[in-house]
Amino acid sequence: MLRSAITASSTLTSAAATAAAATSSNATRQFHAIVMGPPGGGKGTISSWLVRDFQFKHLSSGDLLRKQIAQGTELGRVANEYIKKGALVPDSHVLGMVLAELASLDPEERWLLDGFPRSLEQAKELDAAYKIHAVINLDVPHEEITERIKHRHVHIPSGRVYHTIYNPPKQAGLDDVTNEPLTQREDDKEEAVRARLVKYSAITQPLVHYYQQRGTLHNFPGTESKVIYPEVAKYLKAVIPPA
Ligand code: AP5
Ligand code: MG
Repeated sequence: MLRSAITASSTLTSAAATAAAATSSNATRQFHAIVMGPPGGGKGTISSWLVRDFQFKHLSSGDLLRKQIAQGTELGRVANEYIKKGALVPDSHVLGMVLAELASLDPEERWLLDGFPRSLEQAKELDAAYKIHAVINLDVPHEEITERIKHRHVHIPSGRVYHTIYNPPKQAGLDDVTNEPLTQREDDKEEAVRARLVKYSAITQPLVHYYQQRGTLHNFPGTESKVIYPEVAKYLKAVIPPA
């Protein structure tokens, strides 16, 4: 799988050309969005509501990596070494995986990226392949985050997230849709969360400036996903073409 991710990375140029052509010829229905924000900032939570209300195809690089880990692939084995420490997985591995996934979609699909791009190199490669219509930046204070993440439980196969107090599952410890058990992520331990916040400030937050300069950034400050979400939905309703 690692090899296939790298192979996918090396064929980016032709995938980029195909995708760019598809983008310009299907400008009416398509919409490509990115949800950015610190670890535990609510990207997964808000993405799930956007999928429900706007029929986006949702791709979370973290969820894709956790699936590779669960399947025991070579890419998963390498990624796990970085993820458990709260470090970023090297660009080449993540780029190959995400761009291969995007290339497999119907070119008319409306998609939403969560947790990708996360470095300038990832952002530039993505820009070379696809037009990005909107970047939604969840501007959540870092003090909120450590406390929140302690209460997070996830359903790994689907990426659905719960909070034991604010957004609990219907039955404690079980996913609402499949009834399968929920787990806590290994990188949600306090030390790993601290490392993730440091990486975010140093490597990912500079992307805010990058997208600001390109005129696609929309900032949504706040602490509560339920309060931030209506603002995000209002903005998207105004700019998104009808499905
Ligand atoms: P990833 O899975 O993307 O993790 P992350 O960015 O650290 O973000 P999280 O998923 O932890 O948080 P979230 O913003 O989705 O918040 P959520 O909605 O769950 O990445 C994991 C790792 O994979 C990375 O550290 C890296 O190693 C690697 N990786 C991934 N992408 C990569 C890339 N592109 N390049 C390199 N490496 C990459 O909410 C958090 C909790 O808060 C939930 O419990 C939720 O219910 C709760 N919550 C939400 N809103 C509220 C509220 N208002 N009040 C109280 N609780 C709330
Ligand atoms: Mg998430």
